[in-house]
Amino acid sequence: MNPAQTTREEIPPQAVIIQMAFGYVLSQALSVAARLRVADILADGAKTADEIASDAGAHGPSVFRMMRALAKAGIFVRDEGGRWSNTVLSEYLRSDHPDSMRGMVHMICDREHWIPQGDLEHSVRTGECGFQHTFGKPIFDYFGEHPEAAAIFDEAMTSLSTTVGKAVAEAYDFSGAATVADVGGGHGILLSSVLKANPEANGILFDQPHVVAGASVPKREGVAERTRIVEGDFFTEVPVEADVYLMKHIIHDWNDEESVSILSNVAASAKPGSKVLLVESIVEDEDVPSLSGIMDLNMLAMTSGRERTAGEYADLLQRSGWEFRRVIPTHSPMQIVEAVRR
Ligand SMILES: C[S@@+](CC[C@H](N)C(=O)[O-])C[C@H]1O[C@@H](n2cnc3c(N)ncnc32)[C@H](O)[C@@H]1O
Repeated sequence: MNPAQTTREEIPPQAVIIQMAFGYVLSQALSVAARLRVADILADGAKTADEIASDAGAHGPSVFRMMRALAKAGIFVRDEGGRWSNTVLSEYLRSDHPDSMRGMVHMICDREHWIPQGDLEHSVRTGECGFQHTFGKPIFDYFGEHPEAAAIFDEAMTSLSTTVGKAVAEAYDFSGAATVADVGGGHGILLSSVLKANPEANGILFDQPHVVAGASVPKREGVAERTRIVEGDFFTEVPVEADVYLMKHIIHDWNDEESVSILSNVAASAKPGSKVLLVESIVEDEDVPSLSGIMDLNMLAMTSGRERTAGEYADLLQRSGWEFRRVIPTHSPMQIVEAVRR
């Protein structure tokens, strides 16, 4: 065996801890590679670091160091001629991949995430939202005033929700639903996935005016004719009547009082018997490996919200006019919490 190679079991605990502690360097390198569109640059075949740098407008020797670090993490691979290629992982950083994660990987280390996460100690010590502490206002107010940051965020949501959207459309039986509304639906990728899988259904996309203004996804996915766009503020009202209300990654952005207010506004427009589906990363009651703990810390740094257990979602729904029914797993890191309008 090559002495430079060790198996996971042979790595001493102190090395594991250091590797974990340096995880933020890997995050940033991945994010820079996504921003420089390295996976797109390699789409047609292997290139040297200088060729990548020339296409990306970057510094060759530093691109080499970034590629080498990412190759050690299994993201890219180098051939004997010193040229880099995509791997099964970096294929998902290509912007033309149908399940591209490029937008999400870009956003995770953008300035708006990086600074509040870098000040996580403040949030842990005080319980205060790091984003509010850093930027002086809640994240969605900030995005309303910063179109460039908002565009990165909206692309990230589309990127993450592409895979999750397909998984939700597959996991849930929408066959009885004539109208499906997506509340806080961003640019409409989840709704489009559901409408594509259910050709008889019509959709309503509800979000803030500056967000729905950029909602080009239903057209791209061929469901624009079945999609009505409604703009508004879900703290004021959700003037939308539907058989099923989708809410993906909405309630986790808000504290309990805010969540009850949103869910009550949806309930106010819903007929008895209509359903709400909260698509979230549910926190397991046991400390098993999952993304939910990391997502929860992200919520602590970025919002007034939190990730919740199924019991905590059931409680919020109960307080807002909904009857909790069940949790449905999907082929993604997210689950569906189903409730019925009382
Ligand atoms: C975390 S994103 C989720 C987007 C989308 N559901 C998805 O998962 O891809 C939260 C969404 O809530 C929307 N939102 C935030 N505050 C809102 C408000 N007051 N009224 C309506 N939508 C709002 C945001 O614009 C954003 O699109």
